[in-house]
Amino acid sequence: RRDLLMLGIETSCDDTAAAVVRGDGEILSQVIASQSDLLVKWGGVAPKMAEEAHALAIDQVVQKALDEANVSESDLSAVAVTIGPGLSLCLRVGVHKARKIAKVFHLPIVGVHHMEAHALVSRLVNKDVDYPFLALLISGGHNLLVLAQNLGEYVQLGTTIDDAIGEAYDKSARWLGLDIRKGGGPALEELALEGDPNSINFRVPMRQHKDCNFSYAGLKTQVRLAIESRNLCTDDIPISSATEEDRQLRANIAASFQRIAVLHLEDRCQRAVEWALKMEPSIKHFVVSGGVASNQYVRARLNHIAEKNGLQLVSPPPSLCTDNGVMIAWTGIEHFVAGRFEDPPPADEPDDMQ
Ligand code: KG4
Ligand code: ZN
Repeated sequence: RRDLLMLGIETSCDDTAAAVVRGDGEILSQVIASQSDLLVKWGGVAPKMAEEAHALAIDQVVQKALDEANVSESDLSAVAVTIGPGLSLCLRVGVHKARKIAKVFHLPIVGVHHMEAHALVSRLVNKDVDYPFLALLISGGHNLLVLAQNLGEYVQLGTTIDDAIGEAYDKSARWLGLDIRKGGGPALEELALEGDPNSINFRVPMRQHKDCNFSYAGLKTQVRLAIESRNLCTDDIPISSATEEDRQLRANIAASFQRIAVLHLEDRCQRAVEWALKMEPSIKHFVVSGGVASNQYVRARLNHIAEKNGLQLVSPPPSLCTDNGVMIAWTGIEHFVAGRFEDPPPADEPDDMQ
C-alpha cells in the first residue's frame, strides 16, 4: 500500500481543502483555504458566496497539495472527492475539479461520503482501530452515532432531530458577541474557561426519550433567552468592549451552555455504548470525530464515558477533526483498496460545469 497515492478534495461546506495521502497512511500534504471572513460577514454559509469562494480557491489549493507532496497528477493512483452530504453548489466545484484531473490523467475516482470520512480518518490516526467500532460524529451540520460493522456497513444508532451541536456552539458564540473569526466553537470553548458551569440551569434535552437521538434547537433557544433576560445586548456590544461584570455573565452562560450541551452528548453516548456492545460485544474503540471533537472539554467528558465502559477513546488531532482533505483521501484509499471506485471519466466528457 506504500505505492498507492491518493489525492483527496473536500468542498462540501466552507473550507476548500486538498491533501495527498499514501496508502500506508503517511500524510504527504494537507492544504486548506478557509472562508472565515465570509462567514463573519454573512453570519453563516451563504451557498452562492461559498461556491464562488471555492471556485476561486480550488485550482491553487489542489496545486499546492501536489507541490507540497512533491508529486504530479500522473503519479497519483486515484482521486477521491466528497460527493455529499453538503451544499450542492459547493460540492460541484470539488467534483468538477476531481473529474477534470481524472479525465486528463486517466485516473479512477472515488466518491466519498463526508461523514464516513470523519469516522474513518480515525483508522489513519490509530492503526489499531478495526471493525466493529462505535463512532460519534459531531460537526456543524450533523450529529451521528454509528456502529461501524465493516467498510460501508454502518448501523445508525442516533441522529439529530433538529440542530447539530456545532450549530448551537456557533449561534451561541455569535449571540454572546464573541470574536468568531477562528470559528464560534473555539471562541466559546475559550470563554467558558472563565465561567461557572453551574451558574445557569439550562435543561438537558430529551432526557425523557430513551433513545440515542439528539436535539440542540431547544438549548439554543434557552441560551438566547438567558442573554435577553439579562439585557446583555450582545448583538451590539462585542465582548472586547464589555464591562467586567458583563464579561463574567457571558462567560457563565458559555460555561453553563457547554456543560449541558456535552451532558446531552454523554447521555446519548452512554446509551449508544450499551446498545452497540449488545450488538457487537467485541467493540474496543469509541471514535469521536468532526469539528466539535476538537473541543478539549468534549474530549475529556467522552473519554470518561469510554473508560467507564472499557473502551478506548480515539479522537483525531483537531486538524483532522475539522473538515480537511486528508480524511477524504484516506477514505478514498480504504474504498480503492476494497475495489470500490469509478472508472476514469470518458475522454469526451465536456469540461464545463453543468
Ligand atoms: O466538521 P466540521 O469542520 O464541518 C462540518 O462538517 O460541519 O465542523 C465544524 C463545526 C463548527 O460548528 C465549529 O464551530 C465546530 O465544529 N467546532 C467546535 C470547536 N472547533 C470547531 N465546537 C466546539 N469547540 C471547538 N473547539
Ligand atoms: Zn465535517
